[in-house]
Amino acid sequence: MNIKALLAGITCFGVAGLAAHAGQDAKLSIDGEVLTTQAAAPAHTENLDEIYSGWLFRSGETQALQLDDFDNPGFVFVDQAIDEYSKVDGSAGKSCASCHENVEDFAGLRPTLPRVEGAELVSMEDLINNCRTERMGAEPWKWSGGKMTGMTALIGVQSRGLPMSVAIDGAAAPFWEKGKELYYKRVGQLDMSCSNCHEDNYNKMIRADHLSQGQINGFPTYRLKNAKLNSIHARFKGCMKNIRAQPFKEGGDEFKSLELYIASRAEGLAVETPSVRN
Ligand code: HEC
Ligand code: HEC
Repeated sequence: MNIKALLAGITCFGVAGLAAHAGQDAKLSIDGEVLTTQAAAPAHTENLDEIYSGWLFRSGETQALQLDDFDNPGFVFVDQAIDEYSKVDGSAGKSCASCHENVEDFAGLRPTLPRVEGAELVSMEDLINNCRTERMGAEPWKWSGGKMTGMTALIGVQSRGLPMSVAIDGAAAPFWEKGKELYYKRVGQLDMSCSNCHEDNYNKMIRADHLSQGQINGFPTYRLKNAKLNSIHARFKGCMKNIRAQPFKEGGDEFKSLELYIASRAEGLAVETPSVRN
């Protein structure tokens, strides 16, 4: 099967942008705060005029789960992470709270990641595991395991509502270029790139799914499909498997570069962590 065959089943929702779908007029309002789900595309995103949160493409029923933290199943995992945060672990006898007393102090961090430190590009998972191994004497958590996704949700939600804003110049530039290259590179048996679906065909139906722009401002996201939080890299992996490509390694340079590039495509959209998706 090639892209033509796959997209043959795609149906268009309408002519006027997202207007034909219930989603566009919907407001993502949580506790009286309206989150930015649509913005003018940043200058470095050449082929889009507007950028849209994935929330706009979900059914009214799925959207509703994100409007109230009591209905949002992602908060079960945020609550577990609050317990984990003050749990002593490792040879130094410390918990996260021993050094970071108030988790609220992480406000502002989520929208700026990944970022360059030294010669490396680091994601939030790296920062957390670095504290575990170097400062706590504890085992690193698995990149997309439950403890890690819970903690990235807890730290991420402190920035909810803030606009995505990663640095892409200076030392970040080569990583960004690499991420961009990967975004447009056709791979797998279906010979498709991320852009073939999320840039060329967003707002269309692919089988039973309404295609979004593949933005990452809502991650980690609660997937109704498997009833747990899904990391950014796990989602990338899933999309690569769907086009029958050999996925890159979670936490590896390829996915981190792709994460930086895709985060830069969301500039101005609000952090929605933890979002809810089907
Ligand atoms: C022994 C002290 C200590 C412990 C324990 C510790 N950290 Fe840290 N952490 C630091 C220091 C020091 C830094 C670097 C300076 C800073 O940003 O506060 C840091 C940085 C971070 C950052 C990056 C913050 C930023 O704004 O750049 C995150 C995220 C983080 N820690 C999360 C955690 C989590 C989650 C835990 C528990 C699993 C933890 N840390 C445990 C001391 C600690
Ligand atoms: C064959 C089409 C297709 C390709 C190619 C594809 N995806 Fe996806 N992707 C989907 C579908 C379908 C979904 C679920 C509905 C949606 O949000 O678009 C999805 C969802 C996502 C999401 C979650 C968006 C959200 O708001 O929850 C991200 C992120 C994503 N894709 C990234 C990627 C990346 C990175 C690539 C390239 C490595 C890629 N996708 C390639 C079809 C595709």
